[in-house]
Amino acid sequence: MSKVLITIFGATGDLAKRKLYPSLYRLYKSGVLEEDFAVIGTARRPWTKEMYEDVVHESISSLIENEEDAKTFASHFYYQAHDVNDSEHYETLRELSNELGEKYDTDHNKVFFLAMAPEFFGTIASHLKSEHITDGKGYERLIIEKPFGTSLATAEKLNDDLSKAFSEDQIYRIDHYLGKEMIQNIFAIRFTNFVFEKIWNRDFIDNIQITFAESIGVEDRGGYYDHSGALKDMVQNHILQVLSLLAMDKPKTYHSKDILAEKIKALQSIKIPTTEEVKEDFVRGQYVENDFNGQHFVSYRDESQVDPESTTETFASGAFFVNNGRFNDVPFFFRTGKRMTEKGTRINIIFKKEDSIFGPDQKLQQNVLTIYIQPTEGFSFLMNGKEVGKDFNIGEIKLDFRHDAAILGNSPEAYEKLIYDVLKGDGSNFTHWDELKASWTLIDKIVDVWSKNEVPLYDYKAGTMGPKASFDLLEKYDTEWNWTPDEWY
Ligand code: BG6
Repeated sequence: MSKVLITIFGATGDLAKRKLYPSLYRLYKSGVLEEDFAVIGTARRPWTKEMYEDVVHESISSLIENEEDAKTFASHFYYQAHDVNDSEHYETLRELSNELGEKYDTDHNKVFFLAMAPEFFGTIASHLKSEHITDGKGYERLIIEKPFGTSLATAEKLNDDLSKAFSEDQIYRIDHYLGKEMIQNIFAIRFTNFVFEKIWNRDFIDNIQITFAESIGVEDRGGYYDHSGALKDMVQNHILQVLSLLAMDKPKTYHSKDILAEKIKALQSIKIPTTEEVKEDFVRGQYVENDFNGQHFVSYRDESQVDPESTTETFASGAFFVNNGRFNDVPFFFRTGKRMTEKGTRINIIFKKEDSIFGPDQKLQQNVLTIYIQPTEGFSFLMNGKEVGKDFNIGEIKLDFRHDAAILGNSPEAYEKLIYDVLKGDGSNFTHWDELKASWTLIDKIVDVWSKNEVPLYDYKAGTMGPKASFDLLEKYDTEWNWTPDEWY
């Protein structure tokens, strides 16, 4: 598969060091990348090849088993100091690119990874084309990172800029959640277990609950986060992507085009809430100081780089409805936030209640399928059974298959999997422009209502599962957040 020249813009940045170099090294160790690949790293700093190799070596240090091997890997990395606005720099880049293409026999295949702020995407893409770095001789693929705009209008502008140089099937928009093992497993759970697929609809499912809780605050990202907020940071992308995997109809085949077509349809079927519905069905919150787990946490407004009067939400919750026939009237509840009780990403599929033959004394549990995304990975299924004893009493039984992701050890990291997909030319785990368009249309509506400040911005104490209003929302729909209290309180 190898045979590729990878150019990374933002080669000295955090993402490159923390995720990209280790992922490329894992791909190298597993034989996906062999001798015929090279990497050009570009950034403003005036580094030499030796310095760059050292940085690459350092960033893969925890994975190294064989020093020789690691050195050979790092020798495939070349550095060019580069100002993204300077045309001359692209000429030098083209020369280096041609030289390395020949040296490593890469068949003109090129991948460009833009690990930089989105404001530079358009400039880089257009220079790559105008300076003939893309020449159409091999495959040419562009990988970009979120955020893809901050509204539909800005996303459209970004997309227009990119499409002047790259076609939709050459653009790979990373949503790192789509590279997570258990998110990819949603597809397998749904379409390989016919017992679930047959009941994966409004006749059997009462509601679906998506919880993406984080215990961290905004760390050193206050500057970015304060202009974003939970809705744009987590819901527009990760949560809606997961929702589309849960709500989509069965694709004709396991081919990326068919999968994408169904995901797009699902996203386009989400009902755009009216202003009244936004007020009723969506909750925003901001964390305030609290002592929790023996630690003191400051209020969001006291975090560094955050406006002391900020009205940015650090928690968002709500109910989406997918009018695709399969799921009409079934609420898809979501909640996500910073400084919640603990890091926990999970999906609960709550099946419907049935009339029981056992009378009111025997309380039956609704069946619940839980998909644990992180920090543990796995599934559980909540069902009813007879309690041990002489009398006939019903009790709940939980079939629990979970493991700590770290125990498996070799479960590939999201970025490794996603880069592997790009090398294969498989776009199914990336965000298509039509998905972005649908998700921004939806998010814009909520932002529009929230920005008028007619909806309360609730406080919630750091270390809790968000404001009470998020619990009240589910009560209104005659249900409650499904979690095991001793796990999350
Ligand atoms: C990112 C958000 O996309 O996802 C962050 O910008 C968030 O705010 C992160 O912390 C969560 O990702 P993960 O993989 O740690 O769950």
